[in-house]
Amino acid sequence: MFAVPPELIDTPHEHDPVMLREVMAAAQVAAGDRVVDGTFGRGGYARGILAQQPDCRYLGLDRDPVAVHYGQNLSEQLAGLEVHHAAFSDMETLIRQLELDSVDVVVLDLGVSSPQIDQADRGFSFGKDGPLDMRMDTSRGLSAADVVNAMAEEDLANVIFKYGEERRSRAVARAIIEARAQAPIETTGRLAEIVRSVVWRAKDGIDPATRTFQGLRIHVNDELGELERGLEAAEAILAPGGRLIVVTFHSLEDRIVKAFLKARASKPASKGRLMPWEEDAEEDKAQTFMLLNKKPLEAQKDECRANPRARSAKLRAATRTDVAAGGAASDPEPEHTGANL
Ligand SMILES: C[S@@+](CC[C@H](N)C(=O)[O-])C[C@H]1O[C@@H](n2cnc3c(N)ncnc32)[C@H](O)[C@@H]1O
Repeated sequence: MFAVPPELIDTPHEHDPVMLREVMAAAQVAAGDRVVDGTFGRGGYARGILAQQPDCRYLGLDRDPVAVHYGQNLSEQLAGLEVHHAAFSDMETLIRQLELDSVDVVVLDLGVSSPQIDQADRGFSFGKDGPLDMRMDTSRGLSAADVVNAMAEEDLANVIFKYGEERRSRAVARAIIEARAQAPIETTGRLAEIVRSVVWRAKDGIDPATRTFQGLRIHVNDELGELERGLEAAEAILAPGGRLIVVTFHSLEDRIVKAFLKARASKPASKGRLMPWEEDAEEDKAQTFMLLNKKPLEAQKDECRANPRARSAKLRAATRTDVAAGGAASDPEPEHTGANL
């Protein structure tokens, strides 16, 4: 399928799963349930959920070949677990290939894992010098080096501004263009130095390269497009009563989840002079989700102390209704049932 470089396999694989307690509480996995974990990582959620409910089918997906290799080894010891190399935007295709009609839980824990950051060879970290890669799926697509060495200045500035929220994006893009005219930018260390030459350390002390690296990573992996398509795929495969749980780490991600759930769980405008009970029936028909928590949950203090990554986490969860995906109401007539789920 794909070759995993041995130096990546032999490195430590620790990743503390974020908000595991809250994820397990929202998932409510029952015997016989089918769970899709679209961001398997190092299987922190898989271990927790399978320990609590061993009698479920746990489908882990990851687009990182190293995570999949790790997960496939783990599945030999953990009954119920199977791990597939796939982007979560492709979860519906995978579910159909596996000849499943629907699933009971979809969980997404966005962003990168600790081993991806810690491994200098993956090129995600400005703190460790390595090849400027940043692809989660190392088997395809353009690397960050391909992007910074070829993209037009204005487009680079837009990526860094839009996805990195870097106010000095134009200065960063200019500095990149000037530097690459001298020699191609091939390492994380050189890119970080270029950024630091035009962005100064703010009072909050965060490294000036943080935002540019985030912007490039989101672009290279099309993270926001993946999220939009992944949410729609989850809507298509979740059975009525199924749970969608999404853990985000920055406002760009959370905004997308919030807007998706707001649109799916909101009640349509009143149709006018309907009687209250008729109006309610109409409203219920259009909602494909019901929110489990109106405001996003945040990690508890003890977890934030133990795992700083949890500090920016937000968890949103919702229950799938029996309304067909796409907004059309399910037809209660027997000859039409099962058309969509
Ligand atoms: C934050 S980690 C998940 C950690 C996991 N919950 C655990 O406890 O070990 C995110 C993982 O999702 C993967 N990932 C991110 N976006 C993805 C996508 N669109 N499709 C599939 N996997 C993705 C990354 O490669 C990474 O391994």
